[in-house]
Amino acid sequence: MSVDELKALAVSMLDRAYCPYSRFPVGAALECRSGAVFTGCNIENAAYPVGICAERTAMAKAVSEGHRDFVRLVIAGRTGFASPCGMCRQFMMEFAPDMEVVCLNGKGDSRTFSVRELLPFGFDGGALRE
Ligand code: THU
Repeated sequence: MSVDELKALAVSMLDRAYCPYSRFPVGAALECRSGAVFTGCNIENAAYPVGICAERTAMAKAVSEGHRDFVRLVIAGRTGFASPCGMCRQFMMEFAPDMEVVCLNGKGDSRTFSVRELLPFGFDGGALRE
């Protein structure tokens, strides 16, 4: 899938966001090495910490369907940039430290990072084995 197609898919997921508390919809689209694509949206909860971010929804869907080799993730905000939170950066690090992460704002501007750029000196399982 082209980057533009993945961006369009992430943007289309804004309409699925369940965000009555923040009113900040986020959509995500994740492409795996196999070519499989998984989408996500943020899903909030009256007990606020129970909510999940759009990109973690997409990654959890992928892993639970047997796909861990993530290549590219697009995260779309309806207004401002959706920049991944620390928990999502750590989740990305577990599976795909070299994945490309494309952040989009509502105007269609994009900023692209690697996971290592988003999480310098990040913790991974290597430290647990030393
Ligand atoms: N959110 C995401 O889903 N992804 C991001 O990259 C940034 C923040 C969500 C979490 C919450 O539902 C809302 O945006 C406001 O923080």
